[in-house]
Amino acid sequence: MATFTLPKNSKINGKGRSHRAEGAQRIKSFRIYRFDPDSGENPRYDTFEIDLDDCGPMVLDALIKIKNEIDPTLTFRRSCREGICGSCSMNMNGRNGLACTTAMEDLDGDVRITPLPAMHVIKDLVPDFTHFYAQYASIKPWLQTVTPTPSGKERLQSPEQRERLDGLYECILCACCSTACPSYWWNADRFLGPAVLLQAYRWLADSRDEMTGERLEALEDPFRLYRCHTIMNCANVCPKGLSPAKAIAEIKKLQVEKHA
Ligand code: SF4
Ligand code: F3S
Ligand code: FES
Repeated sequence: MATFTLPKNSKINGKGRSHRAEGAQRIKSFRIYRFDPDSGENPRYDTFEIDLDDCGPMVLDALIKIKNEIDPTLTFRRSCREGICGSCSMNMNGRNGLACTTAMEDLDGDVRITPLPAMHVIKDLVPDFTHFYAQYASIKPWLQTVTPTPSGKERLQSPEQRERLDGLYECILCACCSTACPSYWWNADRFLGPAVLLQAYRWLADSRDEMTGERLEALEDPFRLYRCHTIMNCANVCPKGLSPAKAIAEIKKLQVEKHA
């Protein structure tokens, strides 16, 4: 199991609080990172015990139970609760993943939950995605064309052309991969990271897009693309089973072909 650095503002010496599940038969203990910038206090870990017989099976169920029944100030993102929106990404026992698709029974012992690593934290388990989204916007993640649309028709693809988007379009932009990548920890200001590069390839691979040359040129830079050193954490943690590493390799291949 991979282990990762703590969030950037993670000096933890605040005094943690704990809640016990008195009388419960099957209990699981959660140590949860807490940080409230308005309090002026350092981050801390709070410990909560949950009765597994009185809770849904996923980590997100436990977080919702804690928020609803024990501590309403616990702050985290979630929406779909079925691995589609990407908003509940966090680090559980040292591994990035989605709280809504991570079963508690798959996590051994006490569960330690922190925000995604190496990102600034807004509050508790909520990281700041501003820079990540700006990087995403920089690759122009939309279909770009120069020729007019065939009149009255959609831009069609053959089944084979459509198939080339498999393994790419499923990305939910949860950032589990980018925040598990050491190259991204060290160079997030200039390296685009695996999630954004997978998205960049998604448009390069789209037969309808007519800006391939411009897109490749924009990625041709010692940092934006080439800071990937094939560490592979990205492919190991992706909760959707995608391989940003493979997408990055495909972009590098296209760069070579462009110069051949
Ligand atoms: Fe999340 Fe996977 Fe997309 Fe990375 S490639 S952002 S881990 S869904
Ligand atoms: Fe990072 Fe994945 Fe490359 S972990 S270094 S982007 S293969
Ligand atoms: Fe949407 Fe977890 S709540 S992916």
